[in-house]
Amino acid sequence: MRPFTVSMNLDNINFNGNHIVRRYEDIKSIFKSTDISLEGKNPVIYEVFESPVPEQQGHLIFLVTILYPGKVNEEFFMTKGHYHTVENTAEVYLGIKGKGLILCQTKSGDFEVAEISENRVVYIPPFWAHRAVNIFDEPLIFFGIYPAHAGHDYETIAQSGFVKRVFSKNGRVVIE
Ligand code: 6PG
Ligand code: NI
Repeated sequence: MRPFTVSMNLDNINFNGNHIVRRYEDIKSIFKSTDISLEGKNPVIYEVFESPVPEQQGHLIFLVTILYPGKVNEEFFMTKGHYHTVENTAEVYLGIKGKGLILCQTKSGDFEVAEISENRVVYIPPFWAHRAVNIFDEPLIFFGIYPAHAGHDYETIAQSGFVKRVFSKNGRVVIE
């Protein structure tokens, strides 16, 4: 592979790699309840623009995630969340726009919430699952980098979830 550059222009982002789009119907099972008002519209909850890098040890995959504002009933829009399949792999997020929370947890029951916003860097150590939550009224946009061989284990989260959820209650952000 040769060195390359891509543009971070958010008005027209395209890293020439995978473009993942997750809509409400694709991921509604991650939320505590279903929301009839979203059923017909089936809005995009988030999208990910990945770099065209092989999933091989030695490489780094970089990406931009755009997590849209919104709620499923009182629960803020969020990503599916995952452990990396190769668990001993870390990840770095750099906040570009908006405000959110990165929920992090380990299989031994440890839990942590990290705030992400413009110019804030979040370090997700090896063995920590991670899920982004948009707690604001504009898109949460962040850049991420992780080892290209890490892979995604969505199954563990699908089965046991995260230990906490984030809701909007009376205009306040509530983690419970
Ligand atoms: C990764 C990153 C990140 C994440 C997206 C969407 O390992 O690829 O953590 O890019 O994939 O923010 O989140 P989900 O992969 O949990 O749907
Ligand atoms: Ni990850």
